[in-house]
Amino acid sequence: MKLLIQNLILLAVIIYLFSDHTCSADYPSIYGHSSVLVNDKLFIFGGNTDSGDLSKCIYYLNVTDPRQSLSRPLINPTSYLNYTIKIAWATAVTYNSTIFLYGGKNQSIDAPANLYIFDSINLTLKDSYVPQNESRISMQAVIDSKGKIYIFGGYNVPKFLSGSLPPSITILNSMIIINTILYKNYSIVNTTSGIMGRAYYSATMLDDSIFYIGGIDSSYRSVKITNIIVYNTSTNQWANINVNVTGSAIIENRYGHTAVLTPNNSSIIIYGGVTDNGTLPDPQLFFLNTTLPYTWLIPPRDETYPLPSAFHTANIVGDYMIIAFGQTTNSVTSPTKSYNKIHLFDINASTWVPENVTNPSLPSSMPTSQSPPIDLVIVAVILCGIIAVVFLVIIICNRDRLERIIENFRRRHEREYIG
Ligand SMILES: *[C@@H]1O[C@H](CO)[C@@H](O)[C@H](O)[C@H]1NC(C)=O
Ligand SMILES: *[C@@H]1O[C@H](CO)[C@@H](O)[C@H](O)[C@H]1NC(C)=O
Ligand SMILES: *[C@@H]1O[C@H](CO)[C@@H](O)[C@H](O)[C@H]1NC(C)=O
Ligand SMILES: *[C@@H]1O[C@H](CO)[C@@H](O)[C@H](O)[C@H]1NC(C)=O
Ligand SMILES: *[C@@H]1O[C@H](CO)[C@@H](O)[C@H](O)[C@H]1NC(C)=O
Ligand SMILES: *[C@@H]1O[C@H](CO)[C@@H](O)[C@H](O)[C@H]1NC(C)=O
Ligand SMILES: *[C@@H]1O[C@H](CO)[C@@H](O)[C@H](O)[C@H]1NC(C)=O
Ligand SMILES: *[C@@H]1O[C@H](CO)[C@@H](O)[C@H](O)[C@H]1NC(C)=O
Ligand SMILES: *[C@@H]1O[C@H](CO)[C@@H](O)[C@H](O)[C@H]1NC(C)=O
Ligand SMILES: *[C@@H]1O[C@H](CO)[C@@H](O)[C@H](O)[C@H]1NC(C)=O
Ligand SMILES: *[C@@H]1O[C@H](CO)[C@@H](O)[C@H](O)[C@H]1NC(C)=O
Ligand SMILES: *[C@@H]1O[C@H](CO)[C@@H](O)[C@H](O)[C@H]1NC(C)=O
Repeated sequence: MKLLIQNLILLAVIIYLFSDHTCSADYPSIYGHSSVLVNDKLFIFGGNTDSGDLSKCIYYLNVTDPRQSLSRPLINPTSYLNYTIKIAWATAVTYNSTIFLYGGKNQSIDAPANLYIFDSINLTLKDSYVPQNESRISMQAVIDSKGKIYIFGGYNVPKFLSGSLPPSITILNSMIIINTILYKNYSIVNTTSGIMGRAYYSATMLDDSIFYIGGIDSSYRSVKITNIIVYNTSTNQWANINVNVTGSAIIENRYGHTAVLTPNNSSIIIYGGVTDNGTLPDPQLFFLNTTLPYTWLIPPRDETYPLPSAFHTANIVGDYMIIAFGQTTNSVTSPTKSYNKIHLFDINASTWVPENVTNPSLPSSMPTSQSPPIDLVIVAVILCGIIAVVFLVIIICNRDRLERIIENFRRRHEREYIG
């Protein structure tokens, strides 16, 4: 009986090791992924999965008609690429149909790349390198109309991060500026004194100002939500702005939230995140009125709200905000499960589009856009079979050692959670 149970556990490990090698059309349960809109395609890169592994998938969702898009499958347009990146906690921006994916945690580390350049038309992926001693994770890049990327703060990850976080990491307060037109021209701008580093914040560009809201600072605690730091890209100057909450309203501090600018530039929509103890912050959704003097606006809550999330992504598509995936939060515990859902917020009506309208269940398995040749599949199946038999023989001969391997495997993956 004991042997049977052990074999079942091993089988589960084998299935785990051999699954996750295709990027199916089903919505994935991921958090800490990156997303960016290019024309009518919402591209999604990587992310953490609940098993502790990183996703290697590059997807897009057809958002031509936002209200219809949520009944659509995800497309994996790059299944033929002989080059994959397993990445999480990175940040993506786009210029002229080229996507720049900076930083993040990459599970298999062997090349000095910290900037990936993805051509969303020709579907090619190249790696590049911002000359630095470190890479960065958990930051949010923005790009201006001249193709300059601004990347503030984040965790400084010595060299390139593999597996669990090293013991000494710091939260940076410098800004990397990358000129994508002459994309060899990088600069790192030190901040003026008085600006603390931040990670897991949101960054939103309005004219030539970048608004950095929330996040955690070098004390590893969330910053005051009312203290917004603003970087002026014309003058390279920072400003501290305090937008006070009026009356008895409370806006809890948070990190792992998102903030996007409404199409008419009149407000920034802040959504989700977690508090210092990992719980759902209140309110789940609110606005920053961008007309001077800046003010907060807290809409009344109604029952159309989706389950709250953190470490999701938010993008503006037409008059909607699309919230993709992330971890589900609650008001009692830290998040433990990620969320295979996409939600639409109708900005003009200030309501969530009901799930029943947009999310009919997807077919359980849709073919990816390009499948490998059939003989490759057969070879793979036979190889898996042989490996499984070898594993079973090993298990029977060497049970104690295998138990240790499985235990180490489990621990390693537990340690990898860094949120
Ligand atoms: C997206 O959907 C629209 C229909 O709503 C279709 O016309 C268009 O071809 C689709 N785009 C892609 C890239 O599949
Ligand atoms: C990937 O494929 C391209 C051709 O499609 C080839 O030029 C390139 O060397 C390959 N890269 C690797 C790492 O195999
Ligand atoms: C955008 O990319 C196209 C194709 O590479 C190029 O012809 C065009 O000049 C680029 N536009 C800008 C503004 O860089
Ligand atoms: C990331 O992982 C891929 C393989 O999964 C590898 O080819 C690439 O060099 C890695 N990049 C970095 C920066 O470690
Ligand atoms: C895509 O490939 C075509 C032909 O190879 C090339 O002319 C075009 O400039 C490429 N587009 C981009 C955006 O690189
Ligand atoms: C960065 O790298 C340079 C050269 O490799 C080295 O001299 C310098 O000490 C490094 N700085 C840090 C902060 O590690
Ligand atoms: C590179 O960037 C710096 C600072 O942004 C600028 O002063 C310099 O002129 C740029 N170099 C080129 C070749 O554009
Ligand atoms: C920024 O500050 C670091 C350490 O404080 C220093 O090593 C570096 O030279 C500074 N960079 C610039 C561009 O001033
Ligand atoms: C917010 O309150 C602080 C003191 O608590 C004050 O210094 C600041 O001027 C106030 N900001 C605004 C916009 O009223
Ligand atoms: C969460 O943190 C707040 C202070 O930030 C504290 O008052 C509260 O008791 C904490 N809740 C839990 C469940 O730990
Ligand atoms: C934003 O503030 C301006 C000026 O105080 C005000 O006219 C406008 O109505 C506010 N917008 C909203 C959506 O409350
Ligand atoms: C969706 O749900 C809402 C409220 O939960 C309901 O009013 C509406 O009729 C439903 N729509 C459909 C198409 O079932």
